[in-house]
Amino acid sequence: MTTNPLIRCAVVGNPIAHSRSPEIHHAFAKQFDLTLHYDRILADRNDFSDHVRGFFAQGGKGLNITVPFKELAFSMAQVRSPRAELAGAVNTLWMDNQVLHGCNTDGVGLLNDLIRLGFNPKDKRVLLIGAGGAARGVVLPLLSAQPSHLRIINRTAQKALDLVNELATQADPLTANTQIDGGDLSSIEGTWDIVINATSSGLHQQSPLQTVPLFNENALAYDMVYGNQPTAFLQQCHHAGAKQCADGLGMLVGQAAASFFIWHGHKPELDPVLATLR
Ligand code: ATR
Repeated sequence: MTTNPLIRCAVVGNPIAHSRSPEIHHAFAKQFDLTLHYDRILADRNDFSDHVRGFFAQGGKGLNITVPFKELAFSMAQVRSPRAELAGAVNTLWMDNQVLHGCNTDGVGLLNDLIRLGFNPKDKRVLLIGAGGAARGVVLPLLSAQPSHLRIINRTAQKALDLVNELATQADPLTANTQIDGGDLSSIEGTWDIVINATSSGLHQQSPLQTVPLFNENALAYDMVYGNQPTAFLQQCHHAGAKQCADGLGMLVGQAAASFFIWHGHKPELDPVLATLR
């Protein structure tokens, strides 16, 4: 009988005890008969880079990076994907020929989840709320799906406008088929097919919006945060007529799947893993 070699991966963050990544990656590994050991690593700002270097020096295959180290991981990566560049943040690290590579798979995770839910953004009007790290992490994959309109709104309007300007210069020709604009949280005129909350307001049981946007007949409200109960944002959207409401658990599984593919070259099935997590 042959046994597969042990592959080591881990997630680094602070706090980290709550992370569901080990559960998700072990479930993926089972699908391909991989012998994976996926750990949680608690780091702080002073020892984060030592953890990363030590992990790869000992033959580790891949690291996921979570709050609050995605920007530090970005600055450590010697080669970065365009998605990582625009996000200014890295959630996936791996070593290739002694060179540390970084990518941001959050956006692919979101896009795959939207498609799984039956809401492909192509030719749709998409309203993205937030212009911090979480929003930056998802805009390029969102644009690659070619929505007809992408509007980015934020409490600090200037941050949304800055992101819109960056997209206009960096993502061309991705932006060719999409009208992109931005504004403050009141810039919600029109009706929308997909409304995504990428702010951290849900962590304080608040919705970022005073006034809810108008939804098209078959519209989705999506909160990148997840939990046992619908977030304040999702409750608000449900009452305002959004046909479907979804939290970010599917995105979490999706971003993990994209990291898994980078490291192991296999595309896992998401639905059974998502069902187990719920
Ligand atoms: P992250 O990297 O996790 O996205 P961040 O960069 O601090 O964190 O960004 C948090 C986002 O949530 C920002 O868009 C922030 O708006 P500002 O840029 O104006 O700060 C938004 N946010 C946080 N709390 C909010 C609230 N109570 N209402 C509306 N927006 C909020």
